[in-house]
Amino acid sequence: MLLEIKDLVAGYGNLDILHGVNMEVDKNEVVCIIGPNGGGKSTVLKTIYGLLKPRAGSILFRGDDIGGVESHRLLRRGISFVPQDKNVFPSLTVKENLAMGAYTRPDMEEEGTENVLLRFPSLKEKMNIRAGYLSGGERKMLAIGMTLMLEPDMILMDEPSMGLSPRFVEIVFNKIDEISSEGTSILIVEQNAYKALRTSDRGYVLDLGINRFQDESVKLLNNPDIRKLYLGG
Ligand SMILES: Nc1ncnc2c1ncn2[C@@H]1O[C@H](COP(=O)(O)OP(=O)(O)OP(=O)(O)O)[C@@H](O)[C@H]1O
Ligand SMILES: [Mg+2]
Repeated sequence: MLLEIKDLVAGYGNLDILHGVNMEVDKNEVVCIIGPNGGGKSTVLKTIYGLLKPRAGSILFRGDDIGGVESHRLLRRGISFVPQDKNVFPSLTVKENLAMGAYTRPDMEEEGTENVLLRFPSLKEKMNIRAGYLSGGERKMLAIGMTLMLEPDMILMDEPSMGLSPRFVEIVFNKIDEISSEGTSILIVEQNAYKALRTSDRGYVLDLGINRFQDESVKLLNNPDIRKLYLGG
């Protein structure tokens, strides 16, 4: 397993939000986490990415415990993160934002930028524009592009389709397919449960800070309980 989360407990202040979460992501897998608002989905990603310290349990990446390891060290180990919001620097240009994606490895900046522009050619003509002026869809491309700068082995994506028009939702999920087929594992959190389950290999339903269901995504899509509880019938 590339990533193994065992009995993870984490939270904010003196409140626990995750009460013993278990998840795995294998090499080359796309795995999604769905479930109701406030269920702790973003908290799982923030804890993996070192923004919160686990209170109990473990997070193993290639067998090493990375619980509480700072984000910049995780980046160097091959994990990157697209937050749910505030995922670009609005006052910096597209080019500068991409450079920020490689801040831990400035030597990779040039090669990384070339690779990102191959994947997102529409960013090419916007390189000197401030990210704050981009459309929502372009900003999402940039946010994903930033996380690709160091060619990570695993990307954590929080709500990649949030706020996008149907056309851009389609584009984002196609990019997720493309990136994973080239060997990067992806853990996605999504409100758009249908889309997420159609794009992923396996899924977890997180509700009130525990795993309620887990299965192959096709099976979750066809499970009447899941349809009724989480997919609107
Ligand atoms: N920084 C914080 N401080 C205190 N409580 C927080 C903080 N961030 C989140 N929470 C609480 O933790 C719980 C889980 O939040 P989380 O953001 O992980 O849920 P989520 O499943 O991602 O929800 P959504 O679908 O709305 O994004 C919520 O009750 C939320 O209010
Ligand atoms: Mg969230």
